[in-house]
Amino acid sequence: MNTVVLVSGRGSNLRAICDAIDAGTCDANIVGVVSDRAKAAALEFAEGRGISTKVVSLRKGDDRDLWNETLTSQVAELQPELIVLAGFMRVLGPPLLERFPGRIINVHPALLPSFPGHNGPQDALDGGVRITGCTVHVVDSGVDTGPIIAQAAVPVLPNDTAETLHARIQVQEHKLLPRVIHQIATGAIELDPLRVASPLGDPTRSLMSPDL
Ligand code: GRF
Repeated sequence: MNTVVLVSGRGSNLRAICDAIDAGTCDANIVGVVSDRAKAAALEFAEGRGISTKVVSLRKGDDRDLWNETLTSQVAELQPELIVLAGFMRVLGPPLLERFPGRIINVHPALLPSFPGHNGPQDALDGGVRITGCTVHVVDSGVDTGPIIAQAAVPVLPNDTAETLHARIQVQEHKLLPRVIHQIATGAIELDPLRVASPLGDPTRSLMSPDL
């Protein structure tokens, strides 16, 4: 399944997808990595792996509509069957969403619909929850509001900071995201333009953190 990964920064999820591809557990072919920032560790990693990379940057004062159009044409050139937002810190506009309806997924560091937005781990701490986690969902026009595909739970420990909690959430993200991509590639999860059809079996059951 030809897959484009959109990134903004570190790219640990991109690495996890590549590791799973190498291990034969994720049946995806990454045809390109697109970043909204010229300097991103994720880009360096992709280049080092020989993956085609593109930068579509958006700076203060730039025309956002134009950026959305450029992003869409750059991504479309790669002819993806699936687009994965892996730490891509922008809300997508209508052009990309309409070009690839239901074919864009995102990984978020909280159990949606709780704690959407940029500060999932800190918001979970502030909210006093004992369990948080990560979510892979279909992207729609909202901020982390699209249909949920799969989730993994992570306990909040007494002395957690946002950093320690996020690090443990990422351990789960790195298992969940490649697994969901694989399930989409094999047809175990069907993405519908309007909603997510029932996956075969219940993917969340086996994805709960073993720590619980
Ligand atoms: C992840 O925690 C993801 O959930 C969020 O941004 C972070 C990206 O991490 N959307 P990385 O760049 O993949 O290391």
